[in-house]
Amino acid sequence: MSEAAPAPGPNQGQPIPRVDARAKVMGQARYAADVPVANVAYGYLVTSEIARGTITGMDTAAAEAVPGVRLVMTHRNRPKLTAPKPFAMGGTSLTASAPLAGPRISHHGQIVALVVADSFEAAREAAHRMTVRYRREEPSSTFGSPGTKTELTSVAAKRPDPKLGDIAKGFAAAAVTHEAEYATPTQHHNAIELHATTAVWNGDELTLYEPSQWLYGLKNGIAQQLGIEPDKVRVRNDFLGGAFGGKAAVGSRTALVALAARQLSRPVKLVLTRDQCFVEPGHRQETRHRISIGAAKDGRITAYKHDLDELTARDDTFVNTGVENAAAMYNFPAVASTARIVRADRHAPCFMRSPPEFPCMYALESAMDEMAGKLGMDPIEFRRVNDTKKNNVTGAPYSSRGLMECYDAGAAAFGWAKRNPEPGSMRRGEWLVGYGCATATYPTSTTSAVARVRYGQDGRAEVHIAAHDLGQGAYTAYTNICAEQLGIDPDNVTVRMGDSRLPPGPIMGGSVGTASGGSAIKLACDKIKARLAIDARASASQRRAAFGRAGAAVLEEQGDYVPEGAKTKTTEGAYKATPEFVGGTTGAKTMFAFGAEFVEVHVHARTREVRVPRITGAFAAGRIVNPRTARSQLMGGMIWGIGSALHEFTEIDKREARYVNDNLAEYLLAVNADIRDVDVIFVPEEDAEANPVGVKGIGELGNVGTAAAVANAVYHATGKRIRELPITVDKLIV
Ligand code: MOS
Repeated sequence: MSEAAPAPGPNQGQPIPRVDARAKVMGQARYAADVPVANVAYGYLVTSEIARGTITGMDTAAAEAVPGVRLVMTHRNRPKLTAPKPFAMGGTSLTASAPLAGPRISHHGQIVALVVADSFEAAREAAHRMTVRYRREEPSSTFGSPGTKTELTSVAAKRPDPKLGDIAKGFAAAAVTHEAEYATPTQHHNAIELHATTAVWNGDELTLYEPSQWLYGLKNGIAQQLGIEPDKVRVRNDFLGGAFGGKAAVGSRTALVALAARQLSRPVKLVLTRDQCFVEPGHRQETRHRISIGAAKDGRITAYKHDLDELTARDDTFVNTGVENAAAMYNFPAVASTARIVRADRHAPCFMRSPPEFPCMYALESAMDEMAGKLGMDPIEFRRVNDTKKNNVTGAPYSSRGLMECYDAGAAAFGWAKRNPEPGSMRRGEWLVGYGCATATYPTSTTSAVARVRYGQDGRAEVHIAAHDLGQGAYTAYTNICAEQLGIDPDNVTVRMGDSRLPPGPIMGGSVGTASGGSAIKLACDKIKARLAIDARASASQRRAAFGRAGAAVLEEQGDYVPEGAKTKTTEGAYKATPEFVGGTTGAKTMFAFGAEFVEVHVHARTREVRVPRITGAFAAGRIVNPRTARSQLMGGMIWGIGSALHEFTEIDKREARYVNDNLAEYLLAVNADIRDVDVIFVPEEDAEANPVGVKGIGELGNVGTAAAVANAVYHATGKRIRELPITVDKLIV
């Protein structure tokens, strides 16, 4: 055992190494754009230079004259497409507008042409030779820009705001109140694997090689746009090089690439450039939060109000909110929260790791720290006084909630007791030292999923599930689950994923992948064990006898998992890409995973440079299927959290509503030099109610709360409270 692969603790599986590790380090793992395709032509996008207006003229002659150019597709000659159905309307797409639908421009970077040529270089050259003329209109870029339009989310997206008790009475009863505004910026996923699509037609059947977090979503979504049967579309992607929510929705390019390939009777491959990855897929929208908390002298909160504004597109409604989850966090006796969307001339935002929790918990956990300070209480004790075992707003008890256990384990490991509560009181040479902590949380949800398991008398098992390994270790976690359920060596398990001809796994988002797909695998294994009349502890000779009795060399069973409490009692939604998420605050039980994160920051006394020498996270998330990959997931989350606290920020040119730092040189991410000690602690927890495998999901848990913990530590070091991310030197100097 090693630090990376701790010996399994209570309710943990085996820390087996990643089953795809060797293929990855040997360069044998094939990503979608790596799949060799014969006679392929290459696409290149031309994107809008303006954010709002109309195309008045296009000159494609110079582009068409470039040797090797086969097609310049614009709104004038694009073959027929049906407009996509966006997520907000129960569909799979990012936006409701078909690509190249007309001359109207609604955001900077909108696709205005697809150029296809014999080589990538020719396509690129031709794309740059195209002339597009626009009639520009003044765009609204972000909060505070003239021309934005604000709507109540409860009206625009029929999402009720959390309300509880008498808020006025709650504030009147408070001895101490705190009110402040917090803000988070636009962020982009920046997965290292660029977005890409290769379309290959074989008669009326389309194969797409595309990195997607949702094979069945892409399959159904593209079929709908092209007006063909979903079963005529096959999507392949054995591996993804990161996704983070950015590869969940069907983007605008895919249908165009499929149309071009059909028109040319030739496969077409399109790989976006890095700057195009800032505009074709979505982003994390900027948010503003006004938080008010009232508390009695003993620290008990009497009232909580959270008013959220989030930016969205002019015509597409993407709604994050998260105020409903924040309202469930503590024992609030009175709650009055609202959420609004603010429409601007920007591309539709989309999911980005911990979509609602990252901004909402940054705001709430910063406010909790400020309130603890006003009350003169230790921030952990303040949370303990307000801990709860139920969601007051819905009345639904938590299925399990290990928050304070996480605080206790984390505080002990971190050495929280050494903290002098006085801001600016701790110093190490030229560096001001600060300790901060915050709550991490993420809703535990599942969605319906189907898996097939084959088990043979040779002892080998195969799992078939159209799910995806985004880099998080899904191949490995499913191997763990299958091996455990059948009671066999993980080396004897092979997991096949990344092909929409396999049974529909879950969308690999919302941290539902291991729990949903794993539950389907468990159900299939249960059926196999029932047919063999064995349990997972059966010996080799018992298994041989069982196969003999069954009269079969191989048994195959399908597991159909539907979450308890789902409105649709079948797995139909998994096939049709209309998933129903059950969990979080929606069911009879409130289901969340929890953690407590502790950060030490060093702020240079003169330059105000901020360093994070160490971070400790303690997490209670039900069964930990594989402590090695789980540790890696949570570490990655916390590292991202540090990046989002200190570095990440997509700058907007407000005059033109366009991104300025749309490249990896200027969009700053945490790199090795920014990260030192990262400590992950698993707090044992069992949750038999969450789902059949008792897994709470950790894909997004780690990066929630980190930014608040850093901000709280920066305050402790300097006495300066930064309420707008990222915490850059300029904000600390003034
Ligand atoms: Mo995650 S943002 O649901 O991929």
